[in-house]
Amino acid sequence: MNSRVKKGRTSKPSPIRHGGLFISFEGIEGSGKSTQCQVLAQFLKDSGFRVIETREPGGTSIAEHIRDLFLQTKTTPGESLTPETEASLVFAARSQHVASLLLPALQNGEVVLCDRFSDSTLAYQGYGRGLNISKLQGYNRFITQGLTPDMTFLFDLPVQQGLARRRKGPNQNRIDQEALAFHARVRNGFLELARKYPRRITIINAHRSATAISHQIQTLMEPVLKRRLRNNKFQNSPR
Ligand SMILES: Nc1ncnc2c1ncn2[C@@H]1O[C@H](COP(=O)(O)OP(=O)(O)O)[C@@H](O)[C@H]1O
Ligand SMILES: [Mg+2]
Repeated sequence: MNSRVKKGRTSKPSPIRHGGLFISFEGIEGSGKSTQCQVLAQFLKDSGFRVIETREPGGTSIAEHIRDLFLQTKTTPGESLTPETEASLVFAARSQHVASLLLPALQNGEVVLCDRFSDSTLAYQGYGRGLNISKLQGYNRFITQGLTPDMTFLFDLPVQQGLARRRKGPNQNRIDQEALAFHARVRNGFLELARKYPRRITIINAHRSATAISHQIQTLMEPVLKRRLRNNKFQNSPR
């Protein structure tokens, strides 16, 4: 018993097996993640798949409270969130999200579309804030229990264009207000991750019309969906 506990503590958690399909949407502010997440969710639902659309930080009641704390623009004079606090908040929200929503849905064979996931932590808190990437990866593995997306779409465009799109909207959150140089480091961080994990991450040129982008995503998903349909997974049972 004791030796088992010890083994479990020292070895890396193995990737989680589930019968679902886990897709994450990543990229800088204003790159079109939320737009494309919604379009793909509708397309999949219309095609008869069972779909969950969610986001990070957030996705469950507790995690959304943590999101509010994370994104709030009000700051206490003389005190701001440290990079370590920022990372800890994201990890706390993700841990809750994985355990309460993502894993149960994936184990139930659903398609899960997630607007941001672990790559955002590496890009923002790692490349953006300068925290140690391998430490972030280690802690991330611990709190996700090893859960990794099956596919990731990385929406890429110059930071000025993304921020200009966002700044047309009504609300600016704490991250939107960061300096251009910070957003540039985040963008480069995402591109570096895409180079590291080319099988999982597909770079999408986000400087095109939303329609052109959604067609590309649907085309990229076609073989995966066909394979799943052949195995008769994910579809709603006939009503
Ligand atoms: N391909 C596109 N071209 C131009 N504007 C877009 C495109 N996709 C989304 N937008 C607009 O840009 C803004 C940010 O898009 P959004 O999907 O919220 O990005 P993100 O979730 O990556 O921050 C929104 O006002 C949205 O309507
Ligand atoms: Mg968004």
